[in-house]
Amino acid sequence: MSEHTGTINLGLTIIKGRRSIRKYRDTPVEEHIIMSALEAARLAPTARNVQPWLIGVVRDKERLAKLGSMADTGSFIKDAAVCFAVFTKKDHKYYIEDGSAATMQIILALQSFGVGSCWVAGDKKPYAEDVRKLLNVPESYTLLSLIPAGYPAEVTVPSKKELDEIYFMEEYKEE
Ligand SMILES: Cc1cc2nc3c(=O)[nH]c(=O)nc-3n(C[C@H](O)[C@H](O)[C@H](O)COP(=O)(O)O)c2cc1C
Repeated sequence: MSEHTGTINLGLTIIKGRRSIRKYRDTPVEEHIIMSALEAARLAPTARNVQPWLIGVVRDKERLAKLGSMADTGSFIKDAAVCFAVFTKKDHKYYIEDGSAATMQIILALQSFGVGSCWVAGDKKPYAEDVRKLLNVPESYTLLSLIPAGYPAEVTVPSKKELDEIYFMEEYKEE
């Protein structure tokens, strides 16, 4: 139930149910779910509708292990059923924003099927170039994020700020 309207809002339920999942069951993620996640990325907003992305899908165990060894903060990629690699055109002014929008669409689409995932940093990371080369992606693109995914084996619930700590109405006032 939505706290504000008293009605069930499926989109909000999916958003509220999402957590970063870093431990996965040894079960494949169905093809139609992977394709739905890609379709969600395709529909993401982009500055001037440039759609500057290229998204890799990795399921090969050896390649997942290589990604896990490259990404120092994403070693758990090796245990994922699938890993999406979101690339964006590096000469595009809004490459970070556009790639981030696609990343979140993928994460939330996966969540809508009960598939857990985790945003693993790509942009600004020293391994971004190695990942691009591993996946044979043209030089004009840069890695924005890696999204390992799978059915959750463990869910951790991090603490979040309270709502009234993060917003203001109309004009900010010091307490
Ligand atoms: C831009 C960005 C980069 C992130 N990079 C990593 C990462 O490299 N490794 C990781 O385990 N989690 C990474 N995360 C996930 C965050 O750690 C996670 O979202 C945060 O701890 C809050 O937890 P929650 O997603 O469960 O709400 C990243 C998230 C964002 C938005």
